[in-house]
Amino acid sequence: MSDKNQNQSGDMKSFVIVMAFGLAGMLIIIGFGIFYYTYLNSSAQTKTTDAPTAVTDATGTETAATTVTGPPPLAPLPPVSFPPDNPYSMAKAELGRLLYFDPRFSGDGSISCNSCHPASDGSWSVSSPISFGYPGSTHWRNASTIINSAYYSRVNWDGSATSLEKQANGAWGGAVAGNIDSALAEERLAQIPDYVRLFKEVYGTEYPTWGQALDAVATFERTIVSQNVPFDAYLSGDSHALSDEAKAGYDLFVGRANCIACHNGPLISDDSFHNTAVPEAPEFTNNPLNQITFRYEQWAKGVTEEDYNTAVADFGLYYITKMESDRGSFRTPGLRDVCYTAPYMHNGIFKTLEEVVAFYNAGGGSSPHKDPLLQPLNLTDDEQASLIAFLQSLCGDKLIIQAPELPPYAPSDMSEASGP
Ligand code: HEC
Ligand code: HEC
Repeated sequence: MSDKNQNQSGDMKSFVIVMAFGLAGMLIIIGFGIFYYTYLNSSAQTKTTDAPTAVTDATGTETAATTVTGPPPLAPLPPVSFPPDNPYSMAKAELGRLLYFDPRFSGDGSISCNSCHPASDGSWSVSSPISFGYPGSTHWRNASTIINSAYYSRVNWDGSATSLEKQANGAWGGAVAGNIDSALAEERLAQIPDYVRLFKEVYGTEYPTWGQALDAVATFERTIVSQNVPFDAYLSGDSHALSDEAKAGYDLFVGRANCIACHNGPLISDDSFHNTAVPEAPEFTNNPLNQITFRYEQWAKGVTEEDYNTAVADFGLYYITKMESDRGSFRTPGLRDVCYTAPYMHNGIFKTLEEVVAFYNAGGGSSPHKDPLLQPLNLTDDEQASLIAFLQSLCGDKLIIQAPELPPYAPSDMSEASGP
């Protein structure tokens, strides 16, 4: 064989190899494309048709998903289920309670979970329409209540966190909330001997870790559950637990007003997402501090440059899925204890339940993505009042916890930890 032939067969070999790789690459791309398309389709279907299954997740009962004849009926809440990797213990919940109130878990040591979710007035959600933020900033959403947060499969208005543990990671670490670095938080805990002892009792480790603190605060949150709700007493057979007006409101809620289409099951939420076209919050455009956080969040959530430049309202679920149809969709809030948690909606735009009911009576707001379930209701004033009386019957004992005395910083024996 001449050199030339050898070269040619060499060329041939590399040609075949290149082709083989090229073909394999194309197959992978096509395969991925098919997978992605199927995935998107299935998640789109999940969103519109899956409500009863989502409630099944929240309650742990199987029945609702299999016998779908309408939305799951309203029912008393089942006991909270604790995740297998973070089981309940009383000592852990107690530790979580201290951490919940402890401002040393924020960058400048000034705010705690309790600052934005106050436990002392029974609301567990701060009363400004849009929450304040880490000192020097504002938040950009209304602070959700902690009450019954244990029951959702996803928390935050856009469902961005899939567990309370993950949510707490963002709440303590996030730039417009706690704004503390996890390593700094661990150093602080190590200088509080009572915490070192309590963490050791709960977790058996020498020094507290960030992850353990997340587990403890999430365990505490799972103990904050509605108590003695009049409507639950009514469901269990006490017909006097509801006024006649509230009973008429209940009939409307499950009947002509069709609130039950989305607010259903024990949590009185389908644990899913809808666009009700709530009006925009003027703060986003009028207040520079809000504008800063609003733009920052667009960037942090990875929207397109065009959206970044033009956004005037919160895109909700779209930030998570990046699907057009999810623009402006928010998680349906549960309605237990709703009388204590004003103002309402993701941007706190409504101050009273009267305003919320008037909004629904008009068929919600206006947006091309608005859920077709929302239609003008033509309720009379009396009917609207009944609906409100029913919402009030969903409110139980106020869950009030006063701030505990927090363990102080004190010199600790770090001698074993000191270097050579
Ligand atoms: C600076 C105010 C602020 C602080 C501090 C703060 N939060 Fe929040 N929290 C909010 C706001 C605002 C929201 C709504 C956020 C969203 O939807 O994106 C929220 C949402 C939540 C939710 C979601 C509830 C639901 O049903 O979706 C939970 C749970 C929660 N916070 C727990 C905590 C815990 C625990 C801490 C302390 C570790 C904490 N928060 C600290 C303002 C705050
Ligand atoms: C299409 C689904 C849907 C229907 C139907 C619906 N809601 Fe809602 N509801 C939602 C969603 C989603 C939100 C949150 C919207 C937001 O923040 O943008 C909400 C919010 C609320 C809130 C505010 C709760 C809070 O904590 O901020 C109340 C109160 C409420 N709805 C009551 C009702 C009543 C009463 C009806 C019937 C007249 C009704 N809803 C019908 C989906 C629905």
